[in-house]
Amino acid sequence: MLETVLKREQDFGTPAITGNLKEVSLQIDGQTIQVPEGTSIMRAASMLGLAIPKLCATDSLEPFGSCRLCLVQIEGRRGYPASCTTLVEEGMVVTTENKRLADLRRNVMELYISEHPLDCLTCSANGDCELQDTAGQVGLRQVRFDGYDKKQANKTSDNSNPYFTFNPDLCIVCNRCVRSCEETQGTFALTVDGRGFESQISTGLNTNFKDSDCVSCGACVTACPTGALMDNSVIQMGQPNHAVITTCAYCGVGCGLKAELKGEELVRMTPWKNGKANEGHACVKGRFAWGYATHPDRITTPMIRASINEPWRQVSWEEAINYAASEIKRIQAKYGKSSVGAISSSRCSNEEVYLVQKTVRAALGNNNIDTCARVCHSPTGFGLKQTLGESAGTQTFESVADSDVILVMGANPTDAHPVFGSRLKKRLRQGAKLIVIDPRTISLVSTAHARADFHLPLKPGTNVAMLNAFAHTIISEGLQDKAFITGRCDSDTFKEWLEFILLDENSPESAATIAGVPAQTIRAAARLFATGGKAAIYYGLGVTEHSQGSTAVMAIANLAMITGNIGLSGVGVNPLRGQNNVQGSCDMGSFPHEFPGYRHVSDTATRSQFEQAWEVKLDANPGLRIPNMFNAAISGSFKGLYCQGEDILQSDPNTQHVEAALANLECLIVQDLFLNETAKFAHVFLPGASFLEKDGTFTNAERRISRIRKVMRPKSGMADWEITQALSNALGYPMQYESPSEIMDEIARLTPTFASVSYAHIEELGGSVQWPCNPQNPEGTPIMHIDSFPHGKGTFVPTKYIPTDERTNKRFPLILTTDRILTQYNVGAQTRRTGNTAWHEEDLLEIHPHDASDRGIEDGDIVQIASRVGQIAMKAKVSTRVQPGVVYTTFHHPVSGSNVITTDNADWATSCPEYKVTAVQVSKVESYASEWQTHWLIDDKKQHEFLTSAEQGTHEHA
Ligand code: SF4
Ligand code: SF4
Ligand code: SF4
Ligand code: FES
Repeated sequence: MLETVLKREQDFGTPAITGNLKEVSLQIDGQTIQVPEGTSIMRAASMLGLAIPKLCATDSLEPFGSCRLCLVQIEGRRGYPASCTTLVEEGMVVTTENKRLADLRRNVMELYISEHPLDCLTCSANGDCELQDTAGQVGLRQVRFDGYDKKQANKTSDNSNPYFTFNPDLCIVCNRCVRSCEETQGTFALTVDGRGFESQISTGLNTNFKDSDCVSCGACVTACPTGALMDNSVIQMGQPNHAVITTCAYCGVGCGLKAELKGEELVRMTPWKNGKANEGHACVKGRFAWGYATHPDRITTPMIRASINEPWRQVSWEEAINYAASEIKRIQAKYGKSSVGAISSSRCSNEEVYLVQKTVRAALGNNNIDTCARVCHSPTGFGLKQTLGESAGTQTFESVADSDVILVMGANPTDAHPVFGSRLKKRLRQGAKLIVIDPRTISLVSTAHARADFHLPLKPGTNVAMLNAFAHTIISEGLQDKAFITGRCDSDTFKEWLEFILLDENSPESAATIAGVPAQTIRAAARLFATGGKAAIYYGLGVTEHSQGSTAVMAIANLAMITGNIGLSGVGVNPLRGQNNVQGSCDMGSFPHEFPGYRHVSDTATRSQFEQAWEVKLDANPGLRIPNMFNAAISGSFKGLYCQGEDILQSDPNTQHVEAALANLECLIVQDLFLNETAKFAHVFLPGASFLEKDGTFTNAERRISRIRKVMRPKSGMADWEITQALSNALGYPMQYESPSEIMDEIARLTPTFASVSYAHIEELGGSVQWPCNPQNPEGTPIMHIDSFPHGKGTFVPTKYIPTDERTNKRFPLILTTDRILTQYNVGAQTRRTGNTAWHEEDLLEIHPHDASDRGIEDGDIVQIASRVGQIAMKAKVSTRVQPGVVYTTFHHPVSGSNVITTDNADWATSCPEYKVTAVQVSKVESYASEWQTHWLIDDKKQHEFLTSAEQGTHEHA
């Protein structure tokens, strides 16, 4: 059912009323219904299947009561109240249809239509227009007035946004766009200018959608009942005729999306109303930036070559797979079993990741499997396992609606997790308190109608000192939750931790010296966290990507436990995962020391379970992590790598070190969509499939396993799981899965937290389920650790602050920190091939005005950024969003080479790179390209020529 339907989901007109409210009984058109107190008559009628005509109401927005189409009659009351704004009452008797109501509605509709162009047949909204439908619903057959002002006609359309157009001629000023921008998105970019008949929708004085505050989330386009706000793709291609429900493949929010198609041609993506992670909202990436999937840069034919200095040769799938397998076998025969390995990707599905790790363990016979989560959230997996007993966040996204205090640390939700950011902003507008701990002034610090109560702009690298100071304040002032600590936490580890945390070195005064934030501000923020009600912690890569990433995660868990903020809605420890399937790729056993379900490879019982199921002897020793693979490649003991869906060269730190490692490999197999940076060093290119071309599941940051569904056939003929299966077969380890669903069944058989997961069960539960999902929790687990932790009691771990080795000095006086922005995604391979480049054509260096003026730098100047490991150049953006002493950039464009300057420093426990702290010097230069960039430009041209010659068939023989 979810695969073929294209229709508007039922619109109840006004939002559902939730909470333990009194039920009210009433009669509507002779039918009796009981609904919660506070429900509108319109919603109650809709629940009975009675569709009252409406234009300004929709159930994602609070009722507005402007169109007057939804009039009803109520026994004993005068007049005809609007059903969207009138609430049910006990014993009420309502009539929704009679002649008088029909006449009134027809008159209202006639006025709307008289002011609207009657070009329905040629309008792009034809067939998907609520105005058109409602005119039919009220029986309007003729229009007596000609109010459509020809002079006003053809008002200029706003087509500044690359994805949608605003045509004011078609606007009925229902205000749904304005309200969705405010209520759903929380941006407040739109207003109504003028009054009465003169009123019109505006993005502000002398501006347009593109240049206004609009963040192109598309909520207004989705809410618009006419063709006034319309997707450009629909204007160009016409209305879609069927749809497939799937899941966004960008960030860890995991929004449910509806892929709307004509045949196999994707017309648009709309947010799925029943998607539990997003509830009908999306952001500029998921909603609009899907064009990369059909971009001409896609490589769709397998290619091989003997050396990276030779052109590619296009070959059949059979030849490519056999060549890859023979090379792997040759290398293992020559250099030993451990000389090869694989890297899986958090962009790929659970089933694909599972197969890659199985291929490594079963076909290659070692545990040299790692994943890109290594470089983002591996400290989360480690830190939460040590303390809370499970390597995952504790809540649902909707839980934030119950938070009283929200602590956001090292995360930028409005940019990196925008749909969650909108939920969070909504809660702030309702009055929740906000503490932001971040070196930069992220948008949340001061957003429309909400401000952070505290922004602690700490120095990069001092998170642990700050978190310890919070805990010190809470304990020393007696603000802890004694009952939770006694009842739910381990007393021995708590006692040890208590002694540690009360040391002077953990006081706010010490933290003030280390982090550069006044002690009294730290104390006040800590008091608010402990005493402000239900407190939730949301954190991101600004916590994990440090030399003390794992320590900081454990300090966060300690903080949640001492304040009793675990096991309820509105509280918890919430890692905001970067990519769509970071949680899933970790769950699926992508780390070199763990089988699926986070069980150590040295555990005999677990290993024999997998040995029996896979019918092969497995290695009991952990394999190589990504940085170890690079080091081993440089030293010559690691010679072959299968890299699925991750551009390690652009995304891993110290690019020149990675280049040296890749150049030393005898066989690099890259499975991806485009000729990315890593593929330039490859010998075998296996063309991957986009998320639109395959079935599977992704697991988002709230442990929600959601289906992705095949929307179109794989452009290369093979889905990624089929490629891995073919490789495993060619390596001599047989796999015969017929579908990803079978792979999931095997995962469920072998992973206790997934024991009850199957595609059929996910379907029964409405399209997604949060693990653990097993016989004890057959419908999944929205909130974890309600009564106990997986290992019984919560464990405290002392978290001593140890400064990073990456120190500033006279030569490198500034600290560089990195992050991503709203419109781009990680290495940009996808978003750079979409209209999103309209907002971010190049990476820029943000620098504080003081630091800029000290160096004679002005906005737009080209600057060199030099660290201990390399130099790059880019344009400067002078900004007070960074504090003096800190500079910031993004890493979305390969030519920027942002990771040329990041170092090999890493988290002590997990080797997660310390991306967030690099000591640099910045100076104004004339030339745009550093030495590395000059070299990159030459090499990029050469590798693209190698690709073009293969595509043109000019190089038949490698
Ligand atoms: S643009 Fe659409 S949603 Fe906005 S007021 Fe006009 S008709 Fe309503
Ligand atoms: S696209 Fe989103 S941010 Fe822009 S005006 Fe519409 S609702 Fe507001
Ligand atoms: S918030 Fe994340 S998952 Fe949702 S549409 Fe945007 S990128 Fe996709
Ligand atoms: S739908 Fe009720 S007034 Fe518009």
